Amino acid sequence: MSGNLLEVTDLRVTFDVHGRQVTPVDGVSLTLERGVALGIAGESGSGKSLSLKSIIGLLPPNATVGGELRFALDREAPIPYAPADVHGHGISIIFQEPMTALNPTMRVGDLIAEGPKLHKGMGKKEAEERAIELMRLVGIPTPERRARMWPHQLSGGLRQRVMIATALSVEPQLLLCDEPTTALDVSIQDQILGLLQELRTRLNMAIIFVSHDLAVLGEICDRLAIMYAGRIVETGPVDEVFADPQHPYTEALMTSVPSFGATTDKLIGIEGRPPDPRDFPPGCRFAPRCDYAQEDCTSADHHLADVAPGRTTACIHPELIEGLGQ
Ligand SMILES: Nc1ncnc2c1ncn2[C@@H]1O[C@H](COP(=O)(O)OP(=O)(O)OP(=O)(O)O)[C@@H](O)[C@H]1O
Ligand SMILES: [Mg+2]
Repeated sequence: MSGNLLEVTDLRVTFDVHGRQVTPVDGVSLTLERGVALGIAGESGSGKSLSLKSIIGLLPPNATVGGELRFALDREAPIPYAPADVHGHGISIIFQEPMTALNPTMRVGDLIAEGPKLHKGMGKKEAEERAIELMRLVGIPTPERRARMWPHQLSGGLRQRVMIATALSVEPQLLLCDEPTTALDVSIQDQILGLLQELRTRLNMAIIFVSHDLAVLGEICDRLAIMYAGRIVETGPVDEVFADPQHPYTEALMTSVPSFGATTDKLIGIEGRPPDPRDFPPGCRFAPRCDYAQEDCTSADHHLADVAPGRTTACIHPELIEGLGQ
């Protein structure tokens, strides 16, 4: 019997850009067990947000989705689902910018009460009480007073908490987080991350947390998936990936972050730019920027393969990786 909550197989997101097919998410596969937190890291444009949006059905209308999505919902084993059937009912999402996600014409309390009314069959009064309870749960002070306010009357940190309360109001089994703390002050960021951790334990909720900030992912995630140019290039338990990266791109990402113990002369960032989805290079898409690239790297497509229990890499020469070399 599968303990998986979510199974994504060969996910592809394609756009028609002036008559040309562009595929910025190009064969993403991942599985997630109940209650597990998976981090997804990668440079801007690697397809992180589009992957999350595919899972919950928030892609722009001109996008075409391929591949298979399976979700367990209340059942034992995952079955194919239509994203519209799980959005706000099994799977919720929180974004970086709460203002764009919160309906400005609804009072905060009504916003949070909407999900329970729609999906949990609660009456008006019960849903309003639930909203206050959720506001308290996510650490919003004087919730009765703030429930009557409009989103624009709250600070950024409080709005983010309102969005989390809204996302949690339907008791999702999976919470998708797309850089939910990037726009916030560090102290508020810490509070929100702490809150997510606490809620995750309390509700046994699985999380997919997208961020370019590896330190944040290290704090809250069990597993990590590294994305590059529309594909996942490495996966594994967070500590193992940090301690011993099995893909040169992962190593390059880490050496660009001082807190990862990189020595100054290794703190180089990653030279060059990620490829444009209109023009992905052949073979390993990181090869043109890779210090370890060999001739065979560009000759064929390289897919994720097991390197150790629970660990995969798309690199065909992981033995060449030197590590951070303190
Ligand atoms: N509506 C669209 N039409 C055409 N191409 C798009 C569209 N939306 C996104 N893309 C392409 O998909 C790529 C990946 O987008 P996505 O938002 O998933 O990146 P990301 O990894 O979340 O980046 P960031 O870290 O900047 O948020 C973009 O760089 C862009 O080339
Ligand atoms: Mg994004």
